[in-house]
Amino acid sequence: MAGHGEEEKVAIEEKDLDVSVLDGVGPATKQKLNNAGIYTIMDLLVHSTSHLCDILGGSREKVLHLQEKARNLLAEYNIIEKGFVSADKIYERAKRISYITTGSKNLDELLMGGVETQAITEFYGEFGTGKTQICHALSVNVQLPREEGGLEASAIYIDTENTFRPSRIVEIAEGRNLDPKEVLRSIHVARALNSSHLLLLVKNLGQKIRETDAKLVVLDSAVGPFRAEYVGRGQLAERQQLLNVMMHDLTRLAELYDVAVVITNQVLVSPDIFFGDPTRPIGGHVVAHAITYRIYLRKAKNARIASIVDSPQHPPGEAVFVITKTGISDPP
Ligand code: GTP
Ligand code: MG
Repeated sequence: MAGHGEEEKVAIEEKDLDVSVLDGVGPATKQKLNNAGIYTIMDLLVHSTSHLCDILGGSREKVLHLQEKARNLLAEYNIIEKGFVSADKIYERAKRISYITTGSKNLDELLMGGVETQAITEFYGEFGTGKTQICHALSVNVQLPREEGGLEASAIYIDTENTFRPSRIVEIAEGRNLDPKEVLRSIHVARALNSSHLLLLVKNLGQKIRETDAKLVVLDSAVGPFRAEYVGRGQLAERQQLLNVMMHDLTRLAELYDVAVVITNQVLVSPDIFFGDPTRPIGGHVVAHAITYRIYLRKAKNARIASIVDSPQHPPGEAVFVITKTGISDPP
């Protein structure tokens, strides 16, 4: 990339950096990468080294070297930082974090502003606690003007349980004085058929986020397909390993693209089916070290109660909300 002046460096956007600009990526390699949904330099960093080894069939050293080159190039264009970062840069990046309103002031306060970009927020609870309803509401709310708690951006909705309802989106949009047709157009829905399809969709998310300028990615539910397919203790390790890979991908996407990732997870009612605390999400701690907020939902008389779990920066507490025509709101 020699010959680019300073001005050009600033003007170049990450989405313009095709994998083929890297030394060592010829037409055949480019084709292999493209077939796997990898188009840009950023994609090379979002995917794990072992996944790239599988795609390219090369040695781990070679792939690491390729990723190193990708990292250096993006650092050169100030798109990412290389190695150590000074605290003021981290501060700058944190300042970019933005929030999507849930529609309930109580719940927004519990989340310290709403659902956060650059992070994964997990809503978990028994059936009927409002997980899917929250996902619908957020997919509309992300499109709201900033002064109304939105990000004026679109949403990507991965539906693994066939519970996405366009008619409900229309109702929420109308309740919020948005054009329902526009709102539907800005929600990009994929129905995941099974866990491997889900993994594939997540692998290709980077491209989708770029195409759609989405600021919200919903996975409802994230763990369901794995639970259905990997039954029994014998398969637990494999299931956890796949979940880990997916969560790593999601973490990197959230950070690199400044998007909010929202996942749902069911809790089994009957504690004897699963080991450990029955109010823990299925799949246990699926996230190793992602910046993740876990919100536990439960039913109350005429309302739902949310509490935040294991978050050092959030004050302990509960938020009461209701499911209404406009999505989610405070109780009347
Ligand atoms: P599972 O996916 O089964 O684990 O449940 P969930 O937590 O996703 O529950 P969901 O979000 O589907 O919440 C279901 C509850 O939301 C229902 O019990 C209803 O009380 C409420 N609800 C569902 N659809 C509507 C709707 O269109 N309007 C309103 N006002 N409430 C709804
Ligand atoms: Mg649901």
